[in-house]
Amino acid sequence: MCGIIGYVGNKPAAPLLLQGLARLEYRGYDSAGLAVADWGGLTVCKRQGRLAVLEEAVKGLHLPQTVGIGHTRWATHGRPSDGNAHPHVSESGLFAVVHNGIIENYASLRRELEADGVVFRSDTDTEVVAHLLEQVYDGDVKTAVFTVLSRLTGAYALGILCADRPGELFAVCKASPLVIGVGAEEQFIASDVTALLPYTRQVIWPAEGDVVRLTASDCILWDATGQPVCRQAEQVMMEAMAADKGEFPHFMLKEIMEQPAALEATLAPHLTDTGVRLEELEGLFADWRQVHRLVIVACGSAYHAGTAAKYQLERLTGLPTEVDLASEFRYREPPLNPYTLVVVVSQSGETADTLAALREAKRRGAPVVAVVNVAGSTIARESDRVLHTQAGPEVAVATTKGYTTQVAMLGLFAVWLAHKRGSLSAVQGTSLLHALQALPAVAARALEQPHLCRLAEKLARQEQVYFIGRNTDYAVALEAALKLKEISYIHAEAYAAGELKHGTISLIEEGTPVVALACHRGLQQKLLSNIREVTARGAQVVTVTTEEQAPLFAEEGEVLILPDTPPLTAAVVEAIPMQLFAYYVAKARGCDIDKPRNLAKSVTVE
Ligand code: F6R
Repeated sequence: MCGIIGYVGNKPAAPLLLQGLARLEYRGYDSAGLAVADWGGLTVCKRQGRLAVLEEAVKGLHLPQTVGIGHTRWATHGRPSDGNAHPHVSESGLFAVVHNGIIENYASLRRELEADGVVFRSDTDTEVVAHLLEQVYDGDVKTAVFTVLSRLTGAYALGILCADRPGELFAVCKASPLVIGVGAEEQFIASDVTALLPYTRQVIWPAEGDVVRLTASDCILWDATGQPVCRQAEQVMMEAMAADKGEFPHFMLKEIMEQPAALEATLAPHLTDTGVRLEELEGLFADWRQVHRLVIVACGSAYHAGTAAKYQLERLTGLPTEVDLASEFRYREPPLNPYTLVVVVSQSGETADTLAALREAKRRGAPVVAVVNVAGSTIARESDRVLHTQAGPEVAVATTKGYTTQVAMLGLFAVWLAHKRGSLSAVQGTSLLHALQALPAVAARALEQPHLCRLAEKLARQEQVYFIGRNTDYAVALEAALKLKEISYIHAEAYAAGELKHGTISLIEEGTPVVALACHRGLQQKLLSNIREVTARGAQVVTVTTEEQAPLFAEEGEVLILPDTPPLTAAVVEAIPMQLFAYYVAKARGCDIDKPRNLAKSVTVE
């Protein structure tokens, strides 16, 4: 959360900082700010609200300075306000700081500084860094930075300006993402490589604890012990993210519609005429029959993708498969060994809890495979092996194509692993291969939902919606409920259909909407009974099912019909109309769909 950007070069910094912030705004949008430096000192402008408010404020200023830092905030300490917006400046205006992460010991540092007479202007944890820098500074910024770092605990990526050094930009990263962009006579820092792509593709990933000093022509790094260190620049192959929504009113709708192409790009490189190829994983185990357990670890929608995959992995490979929330896994002391394969799943590749879970798994001796969308992200770099989803950049805060490509990649993995372990018959293998080959086209058909908009408008005034399902339908119910609540602010809950009667059914009353996900072959009769249990109590039911099974549900209220799809790919096909449903409900309620309140795209604090 929070995006930081920095520039030093020969061009005016402010417009470049604003452009960079526009590409980072998905990380937080409570407030935004920038600071620029020249021999006249530091100039700071910051505003509560979206970036557009800052852009408006900056219009009236003359800002020719060629070095600067910028920030877009997702509030952790202190509510959104002008005062709590970054950059934070030391008392005499000598240092300006932008920060992504959390300074965990800020309260004791603040008490200490206040006892020394320092007056704080914000409620943030970050402000202590600016004051500490000024307190220890004796003319050498590098030494001041290292002295201050030795006092901080927590996670931080920092961008630092010093009014005494207006041609220099300092940065630090510890447990928070930061990348350096190397240009011709200009250098950048950013929280995310996508912010740099319009300017340079040469990047350096600082290591944990590195301190960086950038000038227009030079980049110097010191490792955490203060020793000069050389880190190789790498060429980034990604395409710059599309800056506009094209014909679409929202990025979310654009990204929903892009799913057939994203699925094709994710699957095609791994499908041959005869089977599934995952060269990235070859050699991780000499014999894949040595694996005795799988643990999938992720957060949010990625956790739901893992939940859907669990059913397929157990069914196809016979391996016990657990799915855990990264925030729980990292602190629960899970028993792991070299034969437990841990699979971490993350669109951004920067989610703090998932990254910590990855590190914990490695510390406990388990090999880690990552399913990641953003190439070069921290999770991709730290995992033993990486399976790259090819969703392309996802801008809308609520994930859509990120999630479905994760499910597709995990499906590929399930088939590949089953083959490696000899648990698939030739006939099964061929039919699974056909399912994967057909998925992009079936996903395209799932997008065609002429009645969905009307249905969404009908339900848009409800206060609560329940989603029920069994097996992978339950996994999709979890994702459908999350999508609806995060963008429409309607209270939505997902239940394993058989579980509802163990308590929650008491909430069902006349008119309560229940969406029954009923695509899983073999459990339709069971689900039908669960539907009857809620209709008997007055629920208005919408059933989502396939062409093949639709006749069974014809009497059960509204029915949304999807193309037939086998269990391996059902969680992708079924999720698509649920994304559209959430989108249309949020639209009917006038919500800010691409940037829902309180959220940020990349959750880099725990
Ligand atoms: C929901 C959503 C989040 C993310 C979660 C994990 O729409 O986007 O729940 O899925 O924050 O993010 P990644 O996949 O980047 O680790």
